[in-house]
Amino acid sequence: MHVQPVTSLQGRVMLSGDKSIAHRALMLGALADGVTRIANLPLSDDLAATRRCLESLGVPIERNGGGALYVRGGHLKESAAPLDCGGSGTTIRLIAGLLAGLPFASILAGNAQLARRPMQRVIDPLRQMGADVSALTRPEHSSSANGRTPVMVIRGGSLHAIDYRTPVASAQIKSCVLLAALHAGGETVVREDALTRDHTERMLRAMGARIEVFDNVNVAGSAARDWFAAVRLSPSPLAPLDITLPNDFSSASFFVVAALLVAKSELLIESVNLNPTRTGLLDIVQLMGATVGLEDVYDANGEPVGRLRVRFAEGLRGATIGGALVPRAIDEYPLVALLATQAVGETLVCDAAELRVKESDRVAGVVMELRKMGAQLDERPDGFVVHGPTRLRAARVDSHGDHRLAMMLAVAGLIADGETIIDGSEAINKSFPDFEKTLKGLAH
Ligand code: S3P
Repeated sequence: MHVQPVTSLQGRVMLSGDKSIAHRALMLGALADGVTRIANLPLSDDLAATRRCLESLGVPIERNGGGALYVRGGHLKESAAPLDCGGSGTTIRLIAGLLAGLPFASILAGNAQLARRPMQRVIDPLRQMGADVSALTRPEHSSSANGRTPVMVIRGGSLHAIDYRTPVASAQIKSCVLLAALHAGGETVVREDALTRDHTERMLRAMGARIEVFDNVNVAGSAARDWFAAVRLSPSPLAPLDITLPNDFSSASFFVVAALLVAKSELLIESVNLNPTRTGLLDIVQLMGATVGLEDVYDANGEPVGRLRVRFAEGLRGATIGGALVPRAIDEYPLVALLATQAVGETLVCDAAELRVKESDRVAGVVMELRKMGAQLDERPDGFVVHGPTRLRAARVDSHGDHRLAMMLAVAGLIADGETIIDGSEAINKSFPDFEKTLKGLAH
């Protein structure tokens, strides 16, 4: 991808549906009693992976003339072939939970990038619930003809409920256990040290599941507790959903940061999911001295949705970001690093070692690539420090096979002097195939 600097970004941004919520709608729809209708489903590689896995498991999924998908629940059966999760971490970790309670065996496979990511974090709790789950050989030793590596084998069966505290704040671990809990005997509890995205909980509630959520902030005497949030779920029948997915906040974030950084910009980003467990970037922007407007917020299937109004921000300043804010912006740290290159003073991101096990090592990648553009950053084991402000210069940079790194570098290119070339930009298809087209439509 080649990116030229622009003088301003103007207009309305229409994105496609939220990737996280879409995975959950497909999977929970496959478990529901009846037909779930999902509109505004993103056409990304990751969602194609979840759809493909469910179809391999016998779930009928059809698209109607208007573009909505219909998922017929209650038809899951053993797949003769390994389930191809592509490069999607959410697919493999959530579907592992769904399969753990079903009485047949499945092999979960993925591309080399997925096979390198940690899976023990979901294997451990599923084993504690009584499932027979094992990790398969490491990617460097095995790969099948289609370039897919078997990652995990699951022999599902009768599960028992557990009380589980996640070892790292991860919505994928929490959701995996909750999906398994739908088929476990008794009440399962999942505790987290910091609240992670709660789309699974909200959707389960909207489908009529017996679920309770405890948030330490709202519990009397909470200071005495050493956990931050907990969910309790009992096996429950699920009513099918009729859902129009809100637009993806993480995709919107590239345009939020672009409008904050490019002089004279103003963007309206429509119908975006504003779940507070996802919108940590807006708090970070505020800590750095700017504001983003939220307009016309309404509720859709238990999720807040609204419009973002973003204008060019003058006078950004450095900030310290860590603790409970980290999971609320977990996919946005490449953008936080870019913002910080334009802020006065030092920005410290800490408590974010999880960034090293995303699609790429995002600490190392962000530091290496933004340095090529003249930024001053230091790597830390659990994050990075950015010394701003610096004028960015155009460079040839690399996505490290990571969609969010590629898109952040494209936004950086909008304020660099000259043409920025991003190698490996095809990684963007993982979440946002229309990114370049959408960006071009706003540039002046
Ligand atoms: C996701 C959770 C996050 C996030 C990922 C999507 C989800 O991962 O980074 O892009 O849909 O549950 P972790 O739960 O591993 O932090």
